[in-house]
Amino acid sequence: MPFIKLEKCTRCLKCVKDCPAQAITIETGEIADTCIHCGHCVAICPEMAVRPDFGDVFLLQPHEVTPKDFRNLSSGIRSCRSYLPKDVPDAVLLQLIDNMKHYPSASNARPLQVTIVRSKEKVKLLNDLTEEALIRMFSFLCKPWVSTFIRIFAPSINVNKIKRYRDSFISRSETNDSQICHHAPAVVLFHGEVSKTGMAEADANIWATYTSIYANTLGLGTCFNGFIVKAMGKKSKLNPKFKVPVNHQVYAALLVGYPKVKYRNEASRTSPEVTLV
Ligand SMILES: Cc1cc2nc3c(=O)[nH]c(=O)nc-3n(C[C@H](O)[C@H](O)[C@H](O)COP(=O)(O)O)c2cc1C
Repeated sequence: MPFIKLEKCTRCLKCVKDCPAQAITIETGEIADTCIHCGHCVAICPEMAVRPDFGDVFLLQPHEVTPKDFRNLSSGIRSCRSYLPKDVPDAVLLQLIDNMKHYPSASNARPLQVTIVRSKEKVKLLNDLTEEALIRMFSFLCKPWVSTFIRIFAPSINVNKIKRYRDSFISRSETNDSQICHHAPAVVLFHGEVSKTGMAEADANIWATYTSIYANTLGLGTCFNGFIVKAMGKKSKLNPKFKVPVNHQVYAALLVGYPKVKYRNEASRTSPEVTLV
């Protein structure tokens, strides 16, 4: 639990007003167990009288990212599918992990664990097992009785398109030995317990997005990987091969490495349709 040093507290009530759990009784310095450990009380206290439940308190450093900088940064971040044959040092990977303490999480539950696959053999194994799992999945969907069932009960799914995709996926697997992982030197897996009530999937995609942005500022390239997420779903047989707990699901996967390609131009795409109400 955070802890309030009452002797330093001036009763400005900033912490009380900003607490999303309304857990603070400033008269006694008590913090109720409804506290979600978000640290807003620590962040807002002008006297540093609220101590965090973990670590120390530091003054926020000013940043120099202007809106123009952010726009330019995001327009330059593209999915990287071509990597230099160069390892990402563990220190850099751990730098990516360390910054995750700053990323948001539903109810601040922070249900995610991260596994980094970063040996050539393991990345290849992840590539091959994911490919096998997807080929099995496509083949199942293309079985005559399953396609008939889909045509009747889910007519919006285009079975012929799945069949064409399966064929091209299988033929690519014969010529490309890394069609899933693109020879990335590291693959970051964001996983958590399977739960009907939690929001681990949303957390994972947010954390992967922040990680991608941070990685790009460090000169790395990244690519989200939905294939791995599909293959490492609920009770996946792949989990033990990558030390992912059996009761966990991989909710987001991010390829990371030094990019071989550099993009020169901004390729305009449409922004989403917006409705102002
Ligand atoms: C959730 C998600 C899953 C994705 N899965 C894959 C994937 O499995 N393989 C791949 O090559 N790209 C994947 N991508 C990358 C998209 O294809 C890419 O973002 C899109 O084509 C736009 O290109 P850009 O990221 O370079 O702007 C994924 C992107 C997202 C957001």
